[in-house]
Amino acid sequence: MKNIQQYLNENKDRFLNELFEWLKIPSVSSDSGHKDDMYKAANWAKDALLKAGADKAEVFETKGHPVVYGEKITDPSKPTVLVYGHYDVQPADPLDLWDSPPFEPVIKKTDLHPDGAIFARGACDDKGQVFMHFKALEAMVANDFLPVNMKFMIEGEEEIGSPSLGQFCKDNKEMLKNDVILVSDTSVIANDVPSITTGLRGLSYVEVEVTGPNRDLHSGTYGGAVGNPINILSEMIAKLMDEDRHITIPGFYDDVLEATEEERKKLNEAPFNLKDYKKALDIDEVCGEKGYTTDERTGIRPSLDANGIWGGFTGEGAKTVLPSKAYAKISMRLVPNQEPKKIAVLFEKYFKSIAPDCVKVKVDYLHGGLPVVTPIDTPEYKAAEMAMETTYGKKPVPTREGGSIPIIALFEQILGSKSVLMGFGLNSDAIHSPNEHYGLFNLYKGMETIPYYYKFYGELKK
Ligand code: BES
Ligand code: MN
Ligand code: MN
Repeated sequence: MKNIQQYLNENKDRFLNELFEWLKIPSVSSDSGHKDDMYKAANWAKDALLKAGADKAEVFETKGHPVVYGEKITDPSKPTVLVYGHYDVQPADPLDLWDSPPFEPVIKKTDLHPDGAIFARGACDDKGQVFMHFKALEAMVANDFLPVNMKFMIEGEEEIGSPSLGQFCKDNKEMLKNDVILVSDTSVIANDVPSITTGLRGLSYVEVEVTGPNRDLHSGTYGGAVGNPINILSEMIAKLMDEDRHITIPGFYDDVLEATEEERKKLNEAPFNLKDYKKALDIDEVCGEKGYTTDERTGIRPSLDANGIWGGFTGEGAKTVLPSKAYAKISMRLVPNQEPKKIAVLFEKYFKSIAPDCVKVKVDYLHGGLPVVTPIDTPEYKAAEMAMETTYGKKPVPTREGGSIPIIALFEQILGSKSVLMGFGLNSDAIHSPNEHYGLFNLYKGMETIPYYYKFYGELKK
């Protein structure tokens, strides 16, 4: 292992240059204008796998953006780890809120990253974290340390709900066969508080359209007499939660598997400082469902958020208009045992029921995903615990995170494999926001830790 760590250390600068090349490709999956960039980013990953020493690597077409697959098979009788990650990124806008251009990576120091952090879209989510796996592979091959078989599946549609990956898995079951799926697309609590994610929330995402009159109207001639869809949409959104911030949609909580007192106690033992949390976000108070702590609100409770709302006149100056239409995008984060489509149906029924007769309402289901809970009493998890304990000098804490990776639940259904969520980002790394960044400490710590995962997993499975 010493040789591997030395190899990683000696090549640090070259690694940074390589990662920068990948980050410069604006692989925004939701934007059809970036279709070519998706292929560029996929090919870059394929080449990176081959250069790192994979036996083979290939870019596979799908109905949507391509999937990159590569492998290093040393001995079919040994266990196989499939690394999953994504090369697509979220849109970078609003661009004017970035301190440096999102696809021109730079290194800057921050309070939480005194050694510097890479600022770029995708630096943490998820190119930077996938890159650590490429370099771990390279270091292991270079030092002829191959305790397990390694497979890599890097997709280009995670940020849009992985619409093609389920089919890809079904079509390539044999190729993807594995004993565990290893994912670095989550966070640690802090750089001195290592953690492993043992749960992610699910998601049900809808778009609503509220229509009032058949055209935009003069707000003087008609105002006060005709329903204004923006006013009404706002009222309707406000009705989705009560004063305790409990979601009011009938049946919404019916399937929720309530956490036990024991689980809640465990969850609240994880290090968390409310004062620092508020300070980092510049808020005077947190805001959430009554009766739950912040970690519980994001870890084991569902939530509902408007992600965007638009309609009417938003240009410069004042225009007196009573708009014909108003829209909102609304997401609901789900916890075990809630089902995304069922929740969307409940939402639609309730949302239509609270609409006054002066408007018409349309609800579209955009996408969704099931929540995940991973076991912690398995060799797959233990290997991650041992790896992190080795490199951080502290045993990692199991945590539940609020984000979603919808494909993880499908992996279990289609490939029959459980996942281990060993991510290295910080929640403050501004993923999906302007000025996304990834700490150099985190990048190198990830590269250092991953080879230990393979080592311990190989040993535990013997
Ligand atoms: N890597 C994130 C998920 C995540 C974020 C997990 C933070 C743990 C902590 C992933 O890329 C993501 O953003 N997922 C989307 C879901 C998707 C369907 C758009 C999300 O959670 O909004
Ligand atoms: Mn991600
Ligand atoms: Mn993301």
